[in-house]
Amino acid sequence: MAEANVQPEITLATVKEHNKPNDLWVVIDNKVYNLTKFRSEHPGGEETLDDAAGRDATKDFEDVGHSSEAREMMKKYYIGDLAKRDRKVQLPVR
Ligand code: HEM
Repeated sequence: MAEANVQPEITLATVKEHNKPNDLWVVIDNKVYNLTKFRSEHPGGEETLDDAAGRDATKDFEDVGHSSEAREMMKKYYIGDLAKRDRKVQLPVR
């Protein structure tokens, strides 16, 4: 049995299936977020998220310089980790 709070790994191929405004997943720092419900609340606009839907949006997210509040908010939408084989090696940003 899996332990509580252990998330199943999600492949990039699965993330790519969720690439629509009403079914919108993104990868940020090897973590997968379901932003479908957040889309209409995003201060950076719906279209920016539509553009990132179904793909790795780490660079876009970091380029904006999102605040610590934004980083806190995103935890609510975390649904699991990207499958190990699809991860890019990433050096710590901070
Ligand atoms: C869970 C994911 C995300 C959360 C919780 C989030 C949250 C926020 C928040 C709170 C702001 C207001 C400014 C700030 O506090 O930093 C913001 C602005 C913005 N976000 Fe996001 N965001 C997310 C993902 C993304 C992604 C994936 C992109 C790009 C593809 C993006 C692009 C932007 C842009 C362009 C702005 C406007 C910046 C400005 O006005 O200068 N965001 N976001």
